[in-house]
Amino acid sequence: MSGIIGYVGKKEAYPILIHGLNCFEFRGYDSVGVVTVDKNEFELRKFAGKLAEFKEKNEANQPKGNIGLAHSRWATHGMADENNAHPHVSYSGRLAIVHKGIVENYSSLKEKLIKDGFEFKSDTDSEVLINWIEHIQSKSQKSLQESIQIALNQVVGAYSIIVLDKEENALYAARKGAQLVIGVGAEEEEFIITTDTSPLGGYTSQVIYMEEEDVYRLAPGEKINLLNLDNLQKSPVIEEFEEELHAIEKGDFDHFMLKEIYEQPKAIIDSYRGRMSAVEGWIKLGGITEYRNKLNKAKRIVFAACGTSWHASLVGKYLIEELAGIQVSVEYASEFRYRKPVIGNEDVFVAISQSGETADTIAAIELAKHKQALIYGICNSVGSTISKMSHAGSYTHAGQEIGIASTKAFTSQVVILTLMALQLADYKGNLSKTQLNSILYELEQIPSKVEEILKLDAEVKKIAKVYHQANNFLFLGRGANYPIALEGALKLKEISYIHAEGYPAAEIKHGPIALIDENMPVVVLATNDSAYDKIVSNIQEIKARKGKVIAIVNKGDTVIKEIADHSIEIPKTLELFAPLLSVVPLQLLAYHIAVWRGADVDSPRNLTKSVTVE
Ligand code: AGP
Repeated sequence: MSGIIGYVGKKEAYPILIHGLNCFEFRGYDSVGVVTVDKNEFELRKFAGKLAEFKEKNEANQPKGNIGLAHSRWATHGMADENNAHPHVSYSGRLAIVHKGIVENYSSLKEKLIKDGFEFKSDTDSEVLINWIEHIQSKSQKSLQESIQIALNQVVGAYSIIVLDKEENALYAARKGAQLVIGVGAEEEEFIITTDTSPLGGYTSQVIYMEEEDVYRLAPGEKINLLNLDNLQKSPVIEEFEEELHAIEKGDFDHFMLKEIYEQPKAIIDSYRGRMSAVEGWIKLGGITEYRNKLNKAKRIVFAACGTSWHASLVGKYLIEELAGIQVSVEYASEFRYRKPVIGNEDVFVAISQSGETADTIAAIELAKHKQALIYGICNSVGSTISKMSHAGSYTHAGQEIGIASTKAFTSQVVILTLMALQLADYKGNLSKTQLNSILYELEQIPSKVEEILKLDAEVKKIAKVYHQANNFLFLGRGANYPIALEGALKLKEISYIHAEGYPAAEIKHGPIALIDENMPVVVLATNDSAYDKIVSNIQEIKARKGKVIAIVNKGDTVIKEIADHSIEIPKTLELFAPLLSVVPLQLLAYHIAVWRGADVDSPRNLTKSVTVE
């Protein structure tokens, strides 16, 4: 998704802006652009394509100036071309804008502006927005800061914006439903406004996490000026943030995705560390403890999420119903927000999101909050919008995830959900002390078992080579492994562009079995769980139709090894923890297939790391 950055201070803006675009690169984008102010004139450069080419083109003649904006765009309104790339300059030529998000009512605003004589160079909602701001100011004769507030009050949508006024040498920033932070330099002599803290490393550790609907005015050497929605002055809260420099380096790995797959043993430990003790037999997820009474009385738990986080929610449903006996429903956030869902103050609404910025999930939370449900957020990104909107919650502590295809964020979400299910089961008295101890002891073995699976990388790579030219794939699983079948299919689709579907294994005979022939690779999650015999039958059904079976089995399995074309042997664990292990070979399989196909694993086409538009 797009990333925006603005700089104002005493340094050359261009290198700082380019550093910011470098940090956003992993999010996925199709065009880039920079504007600076040199001798009171805008120096505007835009490019449809990759950042490396843009840098090369501008290397010998870099835009000069101590103030500027930059943007990496993921097209929403208008083609991904140079014309539609940001920054956009207002009709009078005084203001420039970078904008992330969507202005939903842009066409009605545009119509009004056209009637008033404005002309447009692009098809974007962002150009409409900057002209709308300019229009409001010229009509109201108020300060630009107040005019932005008035203009945004009439805008429908979720956005973050930075506006540059070349006459005042100042930046203005505002957000609604999309994160924006301000890095504050020493003595407020310089400011970097950015989508997240990643570009701030090395510049400053002082940061303001902007509140929704506040409008900031930032000019070097001047006090930070902040107006709230009602145009009242507020004082900003400046915090320290910790840099995570190692996260944005690939180290010895060819891709961030592979690095992050290999980081899972550590991510799993980091997500349970300090929250449980196998020896003493306790679990303590802060948010759960705080709302113990409400959770104990909860009639129902409703999960809402998207993509991989939605798959984690399905695992959560399995775990909570199995262990705590509480009814759970799992919703696509994008559907939930547009229904009239039956939810109330006796329900607990759990929103799961790696980024904490997903627009659909944010909208679903708003609806559930309105209906008075308790909101529990499970996020990876610290300080994100969802973490702030939630009444209670848990961070997953997976560390920054850069690969667009989510891997370690998923496993750490599943760890949090496991702890949640166990803690709720403990409150309900469903587990004896001995049972709880032995479950937690097994959870502590998971990281080393994941390490063992990672040693199978070369074997998985060979299997990937055999099937990398396939056009279709099926993934089958039962029970807690069903969401993993969905996740395996999603990983493969995202990065290799092979059509893949996940199904509950028994469901294929109700239709999808018609697809099976000698050209159909079928990945079957066949670990030794309660449905093992059924899975063996499912594999036989596939083999009878000449399908190619890649089975994920437990070490020492002899039955399936005989019938499957390939078997990947992973360590045994409790059925509850099967998802944490069986997902790993599927992540490796998708990764290697994509590499064999020569795909851009870390920046797959059309995808973005956090989907901040609906
Ligand atoms: C995962 O591989 C995907 N890129 C995508 O499905 C993602 O999980 C989804 O967009 C939700 O993102 P979130 O967890 O940041 O809310």
